[in-house]
Amino acid sequence: MLVNLILKHRLNLQDFKLKLVLSILSTMQDNAFLKCIDSQCGLEYSISSARYECERGHLLDVKYKKIPSRALKELFYSRRNPQGSIFNESGVWRFRELLNFSQIDTGSLEECSKNLVSLDGAEGRQSKPYHMSKVADFVGLKNENLLLQPEGYNPSGSFKDNGMATAVTHAKLVKAKKIVCASTGNTSAAAGMYAANENIKCDVYIPSGQIAPGKLSQAYQFGAQLIQVDGNFDDAFSKSLQDAKKFGGYTVNSVNPFRIEGQKTIPYRALENLNWETPDWIVYPGGALGNTSSCGKCLNELFEWGWIKKIPRIAVVNADGANTLYELYNGKFEETELRWNKGKPDTELIQRYYAHLDEKGIRPNTKATAIQIGRPSNILKGLRSLEFTNGVVIQVSDSEMLDGMSIVGLNGFDCEMASGSVPAGIKKLIHEEVIKKDDVIIGILTGRQKDAMLPVDYHNNPKNRFARPPKK
Ligand code: F0G
Repeated sequence: MLVNLILKHRLNLQDFKLKLVLSILSTMQDNAFLKCIDSQCGLEYSISSARYECERGHLLDVKYKKIPSRALKELFYSRRNPQGSIFNESGVWRFRELLNFSQIDTGSLEECSKNLVSLDGAEGRQSKPYHMSKVADFVGLKNENLLLQPEGYNPSGSFKDNGMATAVTHAKLVKAKKIVCASTGNTSAAAGMYAANENIKCDVYIPSGQIAPGKLSQAYQFGAQLIQVDGNFDDAFSKSLQDAKKFGGYTVNSVNPFRIEGQKTIPYRALENLNWETPDWIVYPGGALGNTSSCGKCLNELFEWGWIKKIPRIAVVNADGANTLYELYNGKFEETELRWNKGKPDTELIQRYYAHLDEKGIRPNTKATAIQIGRPSNILKGLRSLEFTNGVVIQVSDSEMLDGMSIVGLNGFDCEMASGSVPAGIKKLIHEEVIKKDDVIIGILTGRQKDAMLPVDYHNNPKNRFARPPKK
């Protein structure tokens, strides 16, 4: 009614309060809706909106009104016997009631098939936490206290498939003709794979010469349109956003709130494996901070719904050559510790830090190109997650990451250098007595090896800790 009244009398829609009322009205009937993360702004949008930020430029969350029943835990477990449904087989859609932004009847195979994007149930299917005794030795923990979850065992070889299945589901919901992303390689591989499978176009913006050859070749293989950008990931990302706006394209980077929904299933699988008992820590590499954001959202929801009683702490591991979050969070710049601050973060501090990087010509620089990112686009959501979980941020060197990657390999598991930051970071946090020896820790190994020469070079140099050079 109010909407009609406004339209009829052509009321001035510039009025912010009116917009707020309108936005709330338009989402009233739905269980799922989009909401701005800035509590003072609070704008809401319908799920059918293709925007990833509010009109004031703040990121959005997917919100659900109904509290899901705890009895779903049994249902999720029973779906591990998929009974002919790829949506039960999928490690993402197995949890579909907790990310039902499409608002479908999740029990109907027909509705799932019509609405949910899945690579034949393969996303998240193989990824669950494992004990790796040599990694436990390396970091200084008892084997039973450490679990590592190889997300590289996703169809395109990284955790990105979890969030890409959901983002492309939303892209289809809004009838997007083309998806667009910038990437250090794994996002483009996942986007290209789902786009090819769904027969939609895909443009990927790549920082020239700065992505692993195995990732670059995936983008070609899946028929994505590459756009090479002179500069680093941050440059490629801003170009991709500009072009998506100008020429029409649906952005599938982790600023997309539906990516975050899919990535919540990474901790779901880990927690399910612990019978929904919470570990003391969950450890991730830090790049654009999509994972940190999704893990915090996941834990926050589960806690609010009464599904978990204790909140694990998140530890984010930066590469020391791409350590924006580490520097800001730990007060290494201007001596102020950047915090979410109950929804009032000091965003000017972030801007001053970026200006300082530009002024000094400091560019992110690490061999772990996946996390070679100077301006983490999800920094605010990341800070919110760290505040909610009493999190910590640490940095590790390239050589520590390579040791971390290699010790994972010696357990018969495969991971890439950026994921090697996880064992390396856990080791450091134990050394600094932040993580205690009897804590239970889940580390997420985000991607598999796509840079073939890294292990070859590592093992050919006898100075490296775990090197096994070839014999003549
Ligand atoms: N690990 C791997 C293997 C990655 O590919 C990325 C990000 C990260 C960690 C960082 O995760 O952004 O959630 O903090 N790769 C992106 C890409 C940027 O384009 O593939 P985050």
